Amino acid sequence: MHFHKYEKIWLVFGVAALIVFLSVVGVSAFHQGNTPSGGHMTIDPNKVRETAPFDQPGLHEKEDGSYEVAMIAMAFGYDPGDLQVPVGEEILFSVTSEDVTHSFSIVGTNVNMMAIPGQINHRKHTFTEPGTYLVICNEYCGSGHHFMSTEIEVVE
Ligand code: CUA
Repeated sequence: MHFHKYEKIWLVFGVAALIVFLSVVGVSAFHQGNTPSGGHMTIDPNKVRETAPFDQPGLHEKEDGSYEVAMIAMAFGYDPGDLQVPVGEEILFSVTSEDVTHSFSIVGTNVNMMAIPGQINHRKHTFTEPGTYLVICNEYCGSGHHFMSTEIEVVE
């Protein structure tokens, strides 16, 4: 069987295109395997309250003197519901959800992140002014969505 010259060219081109395509798919799959969900940490959504730091929701001062807040979002509120944090200190907010997707959005700041079951999202923030800050949910999450809020008290 003889190929015409241009048929050969198309055959080579086709095989080359297939190899490129498979490489791209393979490389993407490889990357996704290494960094699930775009690099977020994962958590078993059924074991949130058994998994550090969410086994103790609230403010933690770590050994190096830095601060972390473990915050659980749920229908329709946040745990802890009353949080005090120090002014002028960098605070790492670590957020997850126990049920559906919510958000953790501190009004008047650039902290606005999703709270997703199975994921831990992080955001650092330093409050420069003491006062009471409102936290709201920006992701529609059900009948209580519009009432889902909490407050953070920033103290000297
Ligand atoms: Cu939670 Cu909207």
